Amino acid sequence: MNESELDYEGGDLQKEDPLLRVEDLRKTFGGVVAADDATFAVERGSITGLIGPNGAGKSTLFNLISGFYEPDGGAVYLGDEEITGMRPDQIAQKGLIRTFQTPRKLEGMTVRESLLVAPAGQRGESLLPLWTSPSSVTAQEDELLDRAEDLLSFFEIDHLATEPSPELSGGQLKLVELARAMMTDPDVLLLDEPVAGVNPVLEEKLAEHIRRLNEEQGVTVLLIEHDMEFIMDLADPIVVLDQGRVLVEGTPEAVRTDDRVVDAYLGGVAE
Ligand SMILES: Nc1ncnc2c1ncn2[C@@H]1O[C@H](COP(=O)(O)OP(=O)(O)OP(=O)(O)O)[C@@H](O)[C@H]1O
Ligand SMILES: [Mg+2]
Repeated sequence: MNESELDYEGGDLQKEDPLLRVEDLRKTFGGVVAADDATFAVERGSITGLIGPNGAGKSTLFNLISGFYEPDGGAVYLGDEEITGMRPDQIAQKGLIRTFQTPRKLEGMTVRESLLVAPAGQRGESLLPLWTSPSSVTAQEDELLDRAEDLLSFFEIDHLATEPSPELSGGQLKLVELARAMMTDPDVLLLDEPVAGVNPVLEEKLAEHIRRLNEEQGVTVLLIEHDMEFIMDLADPIVVLDQGRVLVEGTPEAVRTDDRVVDAYLGGVAE
């Protein structure tokens, strides 16, 4: 263990240019403290990893940051703006989009349609005007169509454009979920287990896509993943959450060999 590589206990707010800051975020469910004054920051332009044993509170943090849960305490800042307590659609409009650990089934929609409705879904708008009054939405619709085509080809899923969404494999759904998240051109993407249950070939592809979104399109990424090889290869720094608190933050190498992290995993629920 190399203590010197870990310059603090808990979360590090001392970033050069933090795009996302989480301060003392707290959430309890009955007797369970899912977020226990969690504090950390995500550097602009980084791919930051968020790991921790099952039930550590990772998804809860995503729900709190993205407005799906209301915190019992603490604050979330996107750039200089406090976004605590805003609705998911308001936060999405400000440039923060999250994906779900279990992608939602999009009944009755083709893959292309599921991309087209993604921005309206984020804004909480009715989808009806998009299809019933074409004259008023043509320009917007054209723009959306262009963007959908670009993303279908970026993620190499053009051939799935007219497939019914419910018929996709788990891995294909993960790709579509990413493409849908990119429809609103976000500054920050929160990805909850983007390669869970995905085969190794597709996992490699997803890693490449995420890296390209980060490097070529400047998207800042906060990534939850249990697959250690995947996350250690892709993310730096890595924030380790345990029982709702930030235990350690550091480089993949530092985190991998930290006794506190090893203990947290051994003490946690077996995977
Ligand atoms: N909506 C909810 N109602 C009640 N308890 C919840 C709710 N959401 C999360 N919890 C509890 O909060 C704790 C943290 O759960 P969370 O899903 O955030 O963990 P996680 O780190 O994402 O775990 P995993 O790696 O298994 O996805 C758990 O004890 C969980 O049971
Ligand atoms: Mg989770």
